Order: sequence, then C-alpha cells, then structure tokens
Amino acid sequence: MELKPYKAEELYAWVTTAGSDFVLLDVRNNEEFSRFKVEGPHLAKMVNVPYVDFIEKEEECVAQVPRGEKIRIVCAKEGSAKYVGEILVNHGFADVRYLAGGIKTWGNLLAPKRVESWKGAELYQFIRPGKASCSYGLMYAGEMMIFDPSRNVEFYKNFAQAHGCRIILTLETHLQADYISGSRQLAAETGARIIGHDNDFHGAAFRYQPVGDEEIYRFSQGGPEVKAVLTPGHTPGSTSYVIDNKYLITGDTVFILSIGRPDLGGKAEEWSKLLFKTLKTKIEGMDANLTILPGHYMDWKEMNARQLLADTLGNIKKRNAGIYGIQTEADFVRFIQENMRAQPEVYAQIRKVNAGLLEVDDEEQEIMDLGKNECAASAMGRG
Ligand SMILES: [Fe+2]
Repeated sequence: MELKPYKAEELYAWVTTAGSDFVLLDVRNNEEFSRFKVEGPHLAKMVNVPYVDFIEKEEECVAQVPRGEKIRIVCAKEGSAKYVGEILVNHGFADVRYLAGGIKTWGNLLAPKRVESWKGAELYQFIRPGKASCSYGLMYAGEMMIFDPSRNVEFYKNFAQAHGCRIILTLETHLQADYISGSRQLAAETGARIIGHDNDFHGAAFRYQPVGDEEIYRFSQGGPEVKAVLTPGHTPGSTSYVIDNKYLITGDTVFILSIGRPDLGGKAEEWSKLLFKTLKTKIEGMDANLTILPGHYMDWKEMNARQLLADTLGNIKKRNAGIYGIQTEADFVRFIQENMRAQPEVYAQIRKVNAGLLEVDDEEQEIMDLGKNECAASAMGRG
C-alpha cells in the first residue's frame, strides 16, 4: 500500500460530513496537541501518539492505532506524519494518509460557503475552523468587499479572481485581538481600501478610511447596500455592517451563543457599559428576521443544517435570553465580571500587529496566529 497525502480542505470536508469514518492520528507531542487540535462536528475518533514514541517503542505505539480503519495522520510540519505513516504501512495498515503541509495548513484553512445569492449579488462565509472564526465576502458586478479577513490573503485573492472580481474594500469590524488581520496585506497587494473605526484604529501605522455611524458603502454599479452601524462594547470602535436589510455582519458583538467579551481591553466596566447600551439601543430593536453573521463561534453545534454559522436575531435573542434579559447596566456589568477569565498573553501583541505598530516576520506571525479564539463573554452553551 502506498502512503498518500491529503489536504486541509479534504479534512474539513470529512470532519463536517455526518458518518465520516476515519481515525485522526495526531503525532505531535502532548503539549502541542492539548494546546491546539483539529476539531469538527463529525470528528468521531482522534488519538494522540507522539512520533518520538514511535521512534523509541514502535510496536507499543502501533498497537495504539486502531486496526481496520482509515488512518489520517497530522503532525506539525509533514515530515513526522510521513514517518509514522510509513511505519503503519509496513505494519499492514491498508489506508493511511498524512496531512500535506502539517497542522498550520489546517490552522490557516478558510472554507468558503455561500450564504445566498440575490439580484446578482453573492455573499460568502469563509469559515476558519482552526480559529473558530468567520470572515465574509460580498460580490457584485466584478467587485468584492471583504469583511474581517485573516492573514491567508492568498485565499481571498484567489477566490476573488476565480469569481472574476476585484477586491475594492476590506472592512474591519474592530481591531482584532485574537488573530492577525489580513487587511493590511490585502490592501497593499490589491489596492483595496481599508475601512475601520477611529476609536480602534486611531494611531495605526497604515492608511485606513474611518467609518462613521450609518455610513453606506456601495459597489460602483449599484447592487447591495452595506450600511455601517456603530456597535461599541467588545471594543470602542466595534462596527457592524447591515447588508440590504437582510444580513448583519457583527464582528464580535453578537454571537450565536453568547456575546463578544468587553473585557479584553482591560477596561471591563467601561466597555461593558458601552456594550449594554449597544445591545439595548441598537441590536435588540433591529428586525428579528435579520440574519446574524458572527465573527466567531464557540461550538460546532452553532453550525446550522446548511453548515453555516448564521441564525436570525430573533432566534439568537431567545437562545441567549439569560443575556438579553438582563435589564440594568449594573446587572450586566456584574454578569461580565462574573464570567471574566484570563486572555491569552499573545492578544496584546496581536493587537499591535493589527495596528501596524509591531512588525514580526512571517514565521512569528504563524506562531502568534495559531489556536482557537477566546472571544465570547461566557462559556454558556458549551459542550
Ligand atoms: Fe475580537
């Protein structure tokens, strides 16, 4: 039997397909495995046997891998997965493959999913399973707007090209703390303008166009209307975008489960008050049929039957009645404080990179950017 590679795109298809039948064998060390691992709604079997153990005690390690199953191996870079794959093939395993490019190809993977097409416009959600985050692309008549791109800019450029589009705007819902934004590089490589709010981007070391509350963005030939709505709280400059009164791209303001944390900037009380006001005066009064498109998810059960991370505002308010039912600012601040937890130390650095105030090389960015987000205000609804 020949050992073959597989790609992160294939892995995403398997872990999101009911009844997928394979064993994911992660051969990184235990620490790396517990820090960041492959996740998916239909990933039924995963084992972690470090490749160094295969070197030292081959028979014992091989015995830990289930026989008669499809084995899909993942490692840090590719080499050790291949090494273990050869061992398994030599021991008679029939269907063994290794992840080409290693775990970082999973960490950077963007899985495109069409949300809807209407009147010549197309809206896509780009799911990043390695970060549990979502970016978005809206296309019309050969132009594309991107919302909250991550640093895999090649993906967005290729996607735009494949759809015959030029990227005209890259809109940031806020200064991200949990992943490195691709807006700056995308703007440099495509000429797209960066849109962001002064409250978050003031002092940034690159050019951006400040967004105002209720400002409207259009494509040069008409098409869907994109309206900015200032929704401060998660950050003081958090901005949501309403598309044709059908969709609301909220960044880290409204999630399907929970809401975005207002404590990441070290001003939990002040920003909690901003968020409470945003929820009461802006979000809750919006049309209940508006479909919310979040910047993050916490759990795969948030994925709907169409495999999108999306739900109506009405459903979200019902599902999170414990949060939306809070009636006073003081109670809301208390709720946030009770649910506060430490944030990864790297977030402070990521913010600086995203404001252009810290330059780090590609390899360092890769390390900083890997790992799941910690953006929700509460762990409610988890697992
Ligand atoms: Fe965020």
